[in-house]
Amino acid sequence: MKTWKPALLALILGTALTAPAHAAPPAGGWIFDSSPDMPGFRRVVVGHDASGWHGTVTSAWYGDLPMQSVRTDGDSVVFQLFNGNKNVPMSDIVLKPEGDPKGGYVRMTGRLWDSTFDITAHKGTPEALKALDFPADPLPPHRVLAPRNLAPTPPMGWSSWNRFADAIDDRSVRQIADALVASGLRDAGYVYVNIDDGWQGKRDATGRLQPNAKFPDMKALADYVHARGLKLGIYTSPGPKSCAGYEGSYGHIRQDAQTYADWGIDYLKYDLCSGEAFYHTAETVYATYQAMGEALVATKRDIVLSLCEYGRFDVGAWGRDVGGNLWRTTGDIEDNYASMARIGFDKNGTPNHTGPNGWNDPDMLEVGNGGMTHDEYQTHLALWAMLSAPLILGNDVRSMTPETLDLLKNPEVIAIDQDKAGVQGLPAKKDGSVEIWTKHLADGSTAVGIFNRGEAAANPAITWADLGLKPAKIRDLWNRSDVAVDNGHAFVVPKHGVVLLRLIP
Ligand code: GLA
Repeated sequence: MKTWKPALLALILGTALTAPAHAAPPAGGWIFDSSPDMPGFRRVVVGHDASGWHGTVTSAWYGDLPMQSVRTDGDSVVFQLFNGNKNVPMSDIVLKPEGDPKGGYVRMTGRLWDSTFDITAHKGTPEALKALDFPADPLPPHRVLAPRNLAPTPPMGWSSWNRFADAIDDRSVRQIADALVASGLRDAGYVYVNIDDGWQGKRDATGRLQPNAKFPDMKALADYVHARGLKLGIYTSPGPKSCAGYEGSYGHIRQDAQTYADWGIDYLKYDLCSGEAFYHTAETVYATYQAMGEALVATKRDIVLSLCEYGRFDVGAWGRDVGGNLWRTTGDIEDNYASMARIGFDKNGTPNHTGPNGWNDPDMLEVGNGGMTHDEYQTHLALWAMLSAPLILGNDVRSMTPETLDLLKNPEVIAIDQDKAGVQGLPAKKDGSVEIWTKHLADGSTAVGIFNRGEAAANPAITWADLGLKPAKIRDLWNRSDVAVDNGHAFVVPKHGVVLLRLIP
């Protein structure tokens, strides 16, 4: 049906038209009556000048989100919001006047990430609007921190996220610590017990962050973990909210670092999450990670700093400068071959940045979580070892199959990962779906991974001279046995599998 434009309607009726309140888009400041928790909409301020309509929507997760691509459509303002991440799924968001034209309220509808909303806001007084100002969290001036030599080899341990997400509690963490000891994994090198997202509660009157009810006493938990020869890790975000929506460290960086030190924490994963709305340039991301690096230094406790900003802004080039000991090079791993291979083979960071005390981190392990075959998990572990990647277990170590445990505990594979030269292995040769990776080790030997990325078994014939190698002895690291040394060798590599060798000159 055709809609009559008001002016046209006035002409037809032969009357002077006074625009009803509804005919124009809603300028002014409005306070939301409700909001989905994510992103916690609080206030919308919208207006126009010679350059057109513009405004901001303030949210608990992201602070002030500028309206983008703003246009009007009849009496509605239509826009998108920018939260620092151009890949965030989002619909057009529509702000429309509703209700009694005198008092008036507005309705905002749309979708951002997983939140679909249809919410109303009433006109705010200047004082009420002001009270919803999002506080600024000033960033420090640019500095380069002194080296923090807390991770001479890639950190090894366990983290709650891949298997448990935020369904984690004090009791399970204690059981995991016990299982790491009983299974021999601690003695194999896996010493960090890292609580990922989901431990955070609320801040007390002094602003000090409390754990939630699932973690009654963090200090006692740290004592328990330390008494078993293990170390305790924790997790936070520079943003107001963590990725799972828990309290972040925005505005409390120093205080939170001190709280962790007081509890006896040894490792901190610092995950950008909602901070991406505040820090979406190379300079501001650097500055907010620097702020936490400096806060950890100020505690005088040795706390390994794990940067998690998904590899943005070439993090490897400056991760050490902000006090980081490892830095994620990618988005999140999933427990399937395609995800693991994409991360491990194709997005493994820049090799010259990795090395003692600063490691490219292609994310935590999925070995033992059930989504890959044994051959694929061997590839996962072998790739991470070739990359000198942190080995942070992501499975339930309380109930592993013997096969999983054997894989994770293999000392000759761990030795490749933990080699003190800290070199990042790289592909030396590609032949169809077969990739041959080499990694030079501190004792002059070379680790060789013959990876088959194809869908059927492969029979590559390898000549050591092709790889520039002249081995006097060859170890097969899965079978833990010697391989006959000749000029080369024909291998059978299963689909998605790997033959992993150490060539000793
Ligand atoms: C992000 C990180 C993950 C995990 C979750 C927790 O997605 O990349 O490793 O820490 O947050 O919410």
